[in-house]
Amino acid sequence: MSTVGAPRPRIEGRLKVAGAARYASDVPMPDLAHGWMVTATIAKGRIRDIDAATALGMPGVLGVLDHRNAPRLNPRAGNYFGPDGSLQLLQDDMIPYAGRPIALVVAETPEQARAAAAALRVTCDAEPHDVDFHLGHPAARPASTAFGPEADTGDVDAELAAAAVVVDERYRTPEESHCALEPHAATVWWADGHVYAMDSNQGAFSVSEVLSTLWSIDRERVHIRAEHVGGGFGGKSACGPQVILASMAAERFGRPVRIAMTRAQVFEATASRPPTEQLVRLGADADGRLRAIHHRAAYALSPLAEYIEWCTEQAKILYAAPAIRTQLTAVPLDILPPASMRGPGATPGSFALESAIDELAERLEMDPLELRLRNQPAAAPVSGLPFSSRRLVSCLREGARRFGWPARDRRPRSRREGPLLIGSGLATTSFSAGVFPSSASITAEKDETFTVSIGASDIGTGARTALTAVAADALGVGTEQIRIRIGDSDLGMAWGAGGSRGTTSWSFAILEAAKKLRENLGDSVRPVTATVDTTAMINFQPDRERQTYSAVFAEAAVDPATGEVRVRRLLGMFAVGRVINPLLARSQVIGGMIMGLSMALHEECLRDPRTGRQANGDFAGYHFAAHADVPDVEADFVPDYEPQDPSGFNGLGEIGTAGTAAAIANAVWHATGTRQRILPIRLDRVLEPATTVDVAGDLDGGG
Ligand code: MOS
Repeated sequence: MSTVGAPRPRIEGRLKVAGAARYASDVPMPDLAHGWMVTATIAKGRIRDIDAATALGMPGVLGVLDHRNAPRLNPRAGNYFGPDGSLQLLQDDMIPYAGRPIALVVAETPEQARAAAAALRVTCDAEPHDVDFHLGHPAARPASTAFGPEADTGDVDAELAAAAVVVDERYRTPEESHCALEPHAATVWWADGHVYAMDSNQGAFSVSEVLSTLWSIDRERVHIRAEHVGGGFGGKSACGPQVILASMAAERFGRPVRIAMTRAQVFEATASRPPTEQLVRLGADADGRLRAIHHRAAYALSPLAEYIEWCTEQAKILYAAPAIRTQLTAVPLDILPPASMRGPGATPGSFALESAIDELAERLEMDPLELRLRNQPAAAPVSGLPFSSRRLVSCLREGARRFGWPARDRRPRSRREGPLLIGSGLATTSFSAGVFPSSASITAEKDETFTVSIGASDIGTGARTALTAVAADALGVGTEQIRIRIGDSDLGMAWGAGGSRGTTSWSFAILEAAKKLRENLGDSVRPVTATVDTTAMINFQPDRERQTYSAVFAEAAVDPATGEVRVRRLLGMFAVGRVINPLLARSQVIGGMIMGLSMALHEECLRDPRTGRQANGDFAGYHFAAHADVPDVEADFVPDYEPQDPSGFNGLGEIGTAGTAAAIANAVWHATGTRQRILPIRLDRVLEPATTVDVAGDLDGGG
């Protein structure tokens, strides 16, 4: 009987609820010292002086590291996108953004380190900064095309000129913070030229690669463990400042050093999703047939490191049109370098594109579901490739049936409950799927169990549990015979928990290792190991377009007197290939939809243009959805099987988030008749002026 497909609770669930799971900052460690980050309070300039005299005389203080005395790092170190200057901490006197770590105080206790950090006297020479993001910024430049070329098919302008109906609108999404429950933390020590770290990250192997480059030592001398990770959402995908700085301090003071960031430090010093500004032009015939899609998107980044917020991807995938053009623009500013967050690119991109499609339906006086059905492509519209598996229409039809969509009156402001305006909306979306190189090894033990070792990470998704099922099926045994080891760079090269490609990549490696083990095993009764590096199937240009899909439906109630938007119902139908564990999968996409709700209504990093600093970088100022904001959320999967995957899998990490904000914005339009083209949909953006009652004496003398 297949274990894949069966709902099973998390293997480590008991450990977590009992408080027995150890995270990076609570592993017991003898002789531990504590580091406290000091961060820049100006957005651009140079450090003139750091006066540590007072701090060094304070109780328990071991020392202060800054650019004048810190170990030198290899400047060639980079990230997934290329060379990354943001990794070069404490290497020079430059301040590239507010929040940049510029010193580390090390002491016997975290309290002593914190007190001494407050006593450091830092003097800086400020230079004019620029955090003013907009699409037409003079520094704007074409984004990297490392994820694929821009679309430029057909003649967009001619098609728009010939279209019966045109939409041409501007959408904005703000800078957002990942807000994983566990703040970034690392515990690091050195021994015999090797560095060891318990670190909170999304991929121990890639962190070990970056750290080994920074220190110019063999990767085999870097041992990164991330047994349990309290969420990441992309904010822990890189080699974080905590592990870099702690490795410096541990080397300098010859002791284990722990850095546990405060929430405010996570906001200012780790990463965020960049703000976007997007222009979408759509043209259609009177029957709703699309003639043109033109999607322009700009996002902010830091000159320190390349990054791609791929907002325009879905314009190449979702709809058939004779002319499709995309233009992605990067705007370098003096801000925290961005990182992938909760469906990078696709999520803000979907908000713009799927809002615009809803606006087109409005102008055509057509059901937005019907409009989408009329424009489904037979093959990928830009690449021309056949689709691998595309069950988007099934998601739409089944979602519509369960949500009760057919009964909807499509006219806005057509439903009221007392003072409340009620509306519903939908969005469809896609998210790119595939695998990245990973390796796995399996050992057949004497007691007839199997130890499966893979450098995977479980950031709260249930990856450990899913991979146990995959291994059990691959070996033809029960899950009780599988012991899984993950979260350790010593387990070999593996992709991280990111890009919605963790579980597919790791499963592929486990499958190959199991195949090899079964061949090796024969009639053997000896313990046998099979180690496999899988490097096949990594292809940004596959011969079929491999994507996951969703249709998200939302119902919102709006109080026009206060501007309050309450989402009442969310329903998502998803096509994600074969589902490994429906219990975990449902939980993950529901979590994703809640993140989408949170993006739609709450989340926004505000920067003070005068100082360039975040004005609300903590959980008091940065709002996100709490329990009371989360309504009846339902999610399910249509039957699907990915033919390009040996097990039929596709990733489902981020597809839950991608379409939700647009579905909610469209529901708010349906409720109120007013478009919300700027996220979040704050009260002040929804509030309607109270109807003025014309009493006596109109000053204009009209009545
Ligand atoms: Mo995910 S935002 O690709 O770590």
